[in-house]
Amino acid sequence: MIIFKVENLVKYFGGLAAVNNVSFEVQKGEIFGLIGPNGSGKTTIFNLISSYFPVTSGRIYFKDQDITAFKTHKICKAGIGRTFQVVKPLGRLSVLDNVIAAAFARVQTKHEARDLALETLEFCGLAHRKEILAKSLPIGERKRLEITRAMATKPELLLLDETAAGLNPSELDTAIDLILKIQDRGVTIIIVEHIMKVIMTISDRIHAINFGQTIAHGSPEEVANDPAVIEAYLGEEYAHR
Ligand SMILES: Nc1ncnc2c1ncn2[C@@H]1O[C@H](COP(=O)(O)OP(=O)(O)OP(=O)(O)O)[C@@H](O)[C@H]1O
Ligand SMILES: [Mg+2]
Repeated sequence: MIIFKVENLVKYFGGLAAVNNVSFEVQKGEIFGLIGPNGSGKTTIFNLISSYFPVTSGRIYFKDQDITAFKTHKICKAGIGRTFQVVKPLGRLSVLDNVIAAAFARVQTKHEARDLALETLEFCGLAHRKEILAKSLPIGERKRLEITRAMATKPELLLLDETAAGLNPSELDTAIDLILKIQDRGVTIIIVEHIMKVIMTISDRIHAINFGQTIAHGSPEEVANDPAVIEAYLGEEYAHR
């Protein structure tokens, strides 16, 4: 079942086509990888989906509803959560208060928000850090807090933008475990990631872009062996394995 799709998505910044006629469909429950070189338009696609910018043209559908013109808070309410490539926790608040602030996107009362935040911190493996100021977390846990905040909005579709960047090998493994655990909960995931170990291991399907345009899509193996992807992005080392 298709839960999400974009059709002929276009975004111009002045004369620059950052996203140029991109279409894809995401199946409910899958991990959908979005890859491409620096500046190819991945984050811009997330910003269009979450209505951080208006689209130049094209349409965005979530659960058969046209959400193209929805405002950011309505997108979140509808069930799409996201993380940011540059993590921006509320540094002077505790980890718990950061997650409570996010939980208010889903629930009304302080009590409910606290319960939801605590449960989400537990699920994401960050409960032991709840009293610490967000700004004093090391990068690995700051990335994890970002995922926790997105999960506290109870998304059905989660957009992860480079949540594995800057992690050491053991943190990478924990991050992969968490993402798979989120998928196990029934959440559909679109993941942007440069670390091939992550994207190739966990994605069910991958969509590759370059200069805002689709260059390949298919299984991780198909995409990793696609000549256009090797040329634009991967180099020979990932091919033919
Ligand atoms: N707010 C903006 N105003 C003007 N140009 C922008 C804006 N946001 C992005 N761009 C441009 O759009 C293009 C796509 O950028 P985007 O951030 O989407 O790339 P990306 O694929 O996420 O790259 P990276 O892998 O480095 O994160 C780039 O040329 C970028 O400079
Ligand atoms: Mg980006």
